[in-house]
Amino acid sequence: MMRTMKLLFVSSLFLLLSATLVAQTKPWVVPANFKSMKNPIATSDVSIKAGQALYVKTCAACHGKTGIGDGPKAKSLKTTVGDFSKAVSQNQTDGEHFYKTKTGRGDMPKYEGKMSDEDIWNIVNYVRTLKK
Ligand code: HEC
Repeated sequence: MMRTMKLLFVSSLFLLLSATLVAQTKPWVVPANFKSMKNPIATSDVSIKAGQALYVKTCAACHGKTGIGDGPKAKSLKTTVGDFSKAVSQNQTDGEHFYKTKTGRGDMPKYEGKMSDEDIWNIVNYVRTLKK
């Protein structure tokens, strides 16, 4: 009985550890056609304003008001949400941001079907202003 308990305990610890490692190290591969996709909406005050309104309403809960990943919901997620103010995020192309927002993964919701492409591109333009 004790032996079984111990075994169960050790194996659940192992599972938890590997799940955490996978979540943090698995690169998010974006298909080449999305990576090189040109943002069809030129950045402008109008686009940034539209993007900001959507961002505050939809994304800030996890990504935080300033994009650093400190939204109130972020703490309860298994995955870290990243940091839009940093190079690691800003060095990605508009197409990469677009793809990740559209398709989602794990704790990151999929916005395809919930948000128009135009809305997503406006958000991408807004997220560019969060660079530090
Ligand atoms: C419920 C929480 C949550 C919400 C709401 C959310 N995200 Fe995310 N987001 C995440 C998580 C978690 C990740 C990290 C996913 C991963 O790496 O597997 C992420 C990752 C991303 C990434 C990739 C970041 C990088 O540096 O590679 C982008 C881009 C992104 N989100 C955009 C958005 C946009 C735009 C919105 C709003 C329309 C949004 N997210 C709403 C949780 C959220």
